[in-house]
Amino acid sequence: MRFGYFDDRNREYVITQPDTPLPWINYLGCQAYFGIISNTAGGYSFYRDARLRRLTRYRYNNAPFDFGGRYVYLRDRESGRFWSPSWQPTRHALEAYSCRHGMGYTVIGSTANGIEAHTRYFVPLDENLEVWQLTVTNRRQTKARISAFSSIEFCLWDAQDDATNFQRNFNTGQVEVEQGVIYHKTEYRERRNHFAYFACSEPLAGFDTQREAFLGRYRGWESPVAVEAGQLTNSFAHGWAPIGAHQVNLDLEPGETRQIVFLLGYHENPVDRKFDPPGSQTIDKSLVKPAIARYLDPGEADAAFERLRKYWDSLLGIFQVNTPDIHTNRMVNIWNAYQCMATFNMSRSASFYESGIGRGLGFRDSNQDLLGFVHMAPARARERILDLAATQLPTGGAYHQYQPLTKRGNNDIGGGFNDDPHWLIVGVSAYLKETGDWSILDEPVPYDNEPGSEQPLYEHLQRSFSYTLARLGPHGLPLIGRADWNDCLNLNCFSDTPGQSFQTTTNKDGKVAESVFIAGLFVHAGRELAAIASRRGLAAEAASYLAEAAKMESVIREHGWDGEWFLRAYDDFGAKIGSKECEEGKIFIESNGFCVLAGIGLEDGTALKAMDATGERLATKHGIVVQQPAYSRYYLNLGEISSYPPGYKENAGIFCHVNPWVMIAETRLGRGDRAHDYYSRINPSAREEISDLHRCEPYVYAQMIAGKDAPTFGEAKNSWLTGTAAWNYYAIAQWILGIRTTLDGLEIAPVIPTNWPGFTATRIFRGVTYNISIERQGEGNRIALTVDGAPVEGNIVAPPTDGRREVSIKGILS
Ligand code: GLC
Ligand code: GLC
Repeated sequence: MRFGYFDDRNREYVITQPDTPLPWINYLGCQAYFGIISNTAGGYSFYRDARLRRLTRYRYNNAPFDFGGRYVYLRDRESGRFWSPSWQPTRHALEAYSCRHGMGYTVIGSTANGIEAHTRYFVPLDENLEVWQLTVTNRRQTKARISAFSSIEFCLWDAQDDATNFQRNFNTGQVEVEQGVIYHKTEYRERRNHFAYFACSEPLAGFDTQREAFLGRYRGWESPVAVEAGQLTNSFAHGWAPIGAHQVNLDLEPGETRQIVFLLGYHENPVDRKFDPPGSQTIDKSLVKPAIARYLDPGEADAAFERLRKYWDSLLGIFQVNTPDIHTNRMVNIWNAYQCMATFNMSRSASFYESGIGRGLGFRDSNQDLLGFVHMAPARARERILDLAATQLPTGGAYHQYQPLTKRGNNDIGGGFNDDPHWLIVGVSAYLKETGDWSILDEPVPYDNEPGSEQPLYEHLQRSFSYTLARLGPHGLPLIGRADWNDCLNLNCFSDTPGQSFQTTTNKDGKVAESVFIAGLFVHAGRELAAIASRRGLAAEAASYLAEAAKMESVIREHGWDGEWFLRAYDDFGAKIGSKECEEGKIFIESNGFCVLAGIGLEDGTALKAMDATGERLATKHGIVVQQPAYSRYYLNLGEISSYPPGYKENAGIFCHVNPWVMIAETRLGRGDRAHDYYSRINPSAREEISDLHRCEPYVYAQMIAGKDAPTFGEAKNSWLTGTAAWNYYAIAQWILGIRTTLDGLEIAPVIPTNWPGFTATRIFRGVTYNISIERQGEGNRIALTVDGAPVEGNIVAPPTDGRREVSIKGILS
């Protein structure tokens, strides 16, 4: 069953039924001011940091699940009936409800009681505000006398404190109202120099800023007393819960349309210009008034919307494909790329599953995210890499997370996840391949943000690599530390105390448990680093990385191979994990996917065996599960992985983040049918038809789909902010379609399904537009290229040296 449809031409998903199985959301903003918005206008806004600069309040895990947001109410002044055009919060029956989630904007509307209304929400580029354009049309035969109400609930900035520290917070709320603009200024009197504002383009019939005045006692957003009465009360918040609500009365002739613009924004004043007049307690508004005046003008708002559209056109225009598969096209051309930008902007901070107060930016996650967005935002990728590297520890290890506002590593989850440092190599390598900007390697970057400790970025990569060499275990495999990619494989934890963190509790000295996954990652990173070193003219150093990688490869063959697949790890007793000898957890996806992705076993048939075993034992119709058999009980020696009921999350769930490793591994074996089949099983668009089972948005990936051991097999959770976005994009773009960035140019190496006649693509790479067409003439993956009509040797096309800005590539597959 579907709840809407894709409008590919407009790059929108159109939801036609408001009661989607879960809130289906979108993101507003792409620079500093952000919001999340559901299909019924739920959600919240923040400036840069979802915890520390939260503009509006949101209660997670509410009932109904998604309650609170950017709500508009309409009220018929004749009948007294009121409703919300976005369905929530009043949930009255609506005609023609639709929610259009587009690139950086959402339009929600409906018709009810003969009144058509829709609101377009977006954040203009380069501004710290959001625009709501409410358009109301009278579809009746008679005149309509309507009141429109806006509403938001302010958050007292620190979302964590806001939700817990009531003995203080019920006293601090303060507002000002001036010329119809509501200013939220809690704590402005003391150390904050920022405030929020909520403005309206039309003359007001009233406003409210105290929640209780608006909602009434013992009432909620579904039936505000002031809306019911048809008159806001001009209340001022003193403590308690500041809100913003405007009332505009509209008299509409039959067929008449009116637009009201509401603005919600954030502003920071210079510390010496907080008050006007100086010495008073009144906000100096002179610096913010021009922006307010500008965007309250509907013409300006429309122009800003057009600029936003062009921005997304240009970002998405960098890579466009036309294949025989509509789901591939839609995800590559629109939604997967869009999701990659959202994961870059948000990391793992704010979604309907990430509360914005939990995590900082993950070192591992942020490096992997680069794979998906570096072509769209190379300058910001550069900045991100330097920020990440600056949190690296002198040992080469890393804090697991850092705070975006301070850019410092935090100790919440500590460090010692022994895979972390290698992701920096992977990320930097992706950046170099995309941009050819070798200067980044010479950038001085501190360790642990310690002034004076700066070394070239290149040295950070060297330390990342040697970190593992200094931490090898009894078999010569890398010690796992607190965990590797699988945060829940906690082999040194041994926690028997409820509530302890699996990631930071360490009851073992960590000298025994080893990870075959990190070994595979080490081989991969070692080869990437060798390629970088050799192009820097460091031949001997490059050779030493290759030698270390080869040595690790033979250790994997000797101690990391189980006969039919790669082992996963050794635990603290030196016992195997992910082996046929195990009772549960006999085979895992991560080590198999990543070792083959790294090229291990391609020559001697072990890679083939490993992928066949993965296919037979782990692949399901909804995707590939993490391991089998699922852990049926808690294992002290394994940690969090066995804390989940079978089929969920790391305990044999379908972790969509790692499925692409298997897709890439299959392309390395030349098996395009299998690679694309795996791709399709978790492709959200291809799952649209089963939306009632899948439940999450059909336009973006979710972190997890419940595995076959779960009663809810096939149900997705945790959509949007997941490494799944980048890895799937990377797998389809660079390995299945095979349009791959390399240090030397663009490599063309498709491994596509045998029944595809070919495909075309446009790729802007280092400033040059490549028009690529691939034609299948045989069933294999051998490719012969002509570039601008001339046959060329090999399959890497170096950037033109003669100033050409457009290149045409034709590839024949046979
Ligand atoms: C989550 C984390 C990621 C980790 C994965 C597996 O997605 O963000 O860092 O690798 O879970 O545990
Ligand atoms: C939990 C989750 C895992 C996530 C981790 C982040 O362990 O299962 O997916 O990576 O928390 O700390």
